Amino acid sequence: MTPPHGPRSPAAHRTTARHNAPMTTPRTSLDSSSSTSHFADPLRVGIVGAGWMGVTHGRAWAANAPRARIVAVADASQPRAQSLSDEATSGKARTYAGLDSLLKEADVDAIDICLPHHLHKDAILAAARAGKHVLCEKPLCLTLDEAKAIRDGLRETGVTFMAAHNNLFAPALVEARRRLDAGELGPLYFVRSTESGRNVGYKTGQPPIDLAPGESSWSWRRDPAKSGGGEVIDTGWHGMYRLLALARSRPVEVTAMLGDYFIHQSGVEDTGAVLLRFQDGSIGFLLTSWAFGELPGAFRFQAASENGGLGGTATKLQIALHDAAPAEQTFENANTFAAEVTHFLDVLQRGATGLATWDHAARTLQCILAAYRAAADHRTIHLPEDPTEL
Ligand SMILES: NC(=O)c1ccc[n+]([C@@H]2O[C@H](COP(=O)([O-])OP(=O)(O)OC[C@H]3O[C@@H](n4cnc5c(N)ncnc54)[C@H](O)[C@@H]3O)[C@@H](O)[C@H]2O)c1
Repeated sequence: MTPPHGPRSPAAHRTTARHNAPMTTPRTSLDSSSSTSHFADPLRVGIVGAGWMGVTHGRAWAANAPRARIVAVADASQPRAQSLSDEATSGKARTYAGLDSLLKEADVDAIDICLPHHLHKDAILAAARAGKHVLCEKPLCLTLDEAKAIRDGLRETGVTFMAAHNNLFAPALVEARRRLDAGELGPLYFVRSTESGRNVGYKTGQPPIDLAPGESSWSWRRDPAKSGGGEVIDTGWHGMYRLLALARSRPVEVTAMLGDYFIHQSGVEDTGAVLLRFQDGSIGFLLTSWAFGELPGAFRFQAASENGGLGGTATKLQIALHDAAPAEQTFENANTFAAEVTHFLDVLQRGATGLATWDHAARTLQCILAAYRAAADHRTIHLPEDPTEL
């Protein structure tokens, strides 16, 4: 049990009652859609993990005021927890040394998990068992058994889970998916996703944000037992879930090649090329790397189909259908972290259907673990329909 950083406050344990009141039937679905519109408004949130992503999420929650309010922050580092509380809430959010004490003491509706990868499963389950809705940074967890345990925990507790798949809210991808859903492209042939950038910070140990002297957001990533692998399960996770979001059916086969061209530090890959076959016959390709960046103007995603194709970056979409003049749409740069929090609030408070569900995250994990296995065994891996099987 971790103690609170500050003096113990009389926690008003109204969360569960307030949470359960409108929920006459416990939710057992994992679709991230809430049947409990208009509850928890404003949503009281506790952030656990006040490092790089904790700070980023803190700003995203603040941008969603007054629909949400950060009331608690937990981090093993007290100064870091306090600094996030100061920046995002002018010091109003109480700070705690860990999730256990936060859950015991603080009056929250939801937990936002921004912890290293190996801590995700236990944190999701602890929050769910305390009756809190969960937003969790990627990856969902490290293994299929962990994904199974999370699924079971979510089913038992009926809380809403959302994976922090912020790239889903990049405006050009949103528009691309709208066009795909509307059937403009017809049957798909091919989808591609690129997620790549030369990761000089990791290579040199330069932290992305100021932590304590000598500390770095990269340090735990160098231990595959904590990170779960290398680049593919880390930054490649974004490229994979974008690919799955573009595909029109489930992936059934995966093969992959991995390389380590630049990082040379953790004995794992810094680059992955992953090839997938989907059930409708279409092919998917993920290119992801910490060794090299994208060429200027290069597509981050593409879909090719019977009627033509489309592709884009986060803010630009090009559409080239065979029976129409080529078109291009440019969007304003969006804060995808603020947008993902808005979506979580829409799910919880307005009954919107969740986009970044447990299923989406578990399928992403299955494909990534299959890519690791395929690369190690030099073969194609067949994917069972159950995303927790391989
Ligand atoms: N969506 C994105 O673009 C993006 C970018 C970076 C990181 N992430 C994800 O965010 C998560 C966190 O990564 P990060 O880069 O912010 O890491 P980080 O090292 O910067 O922050 C992690 C924080 O967790 C704290 N912590 C560690 N163990 C703890 C414990 N048991 N209890 C309480 N606090 C604890 C650390 O003190 C640290 O402040 C990871 O899942 C990562 O993949 C996502």
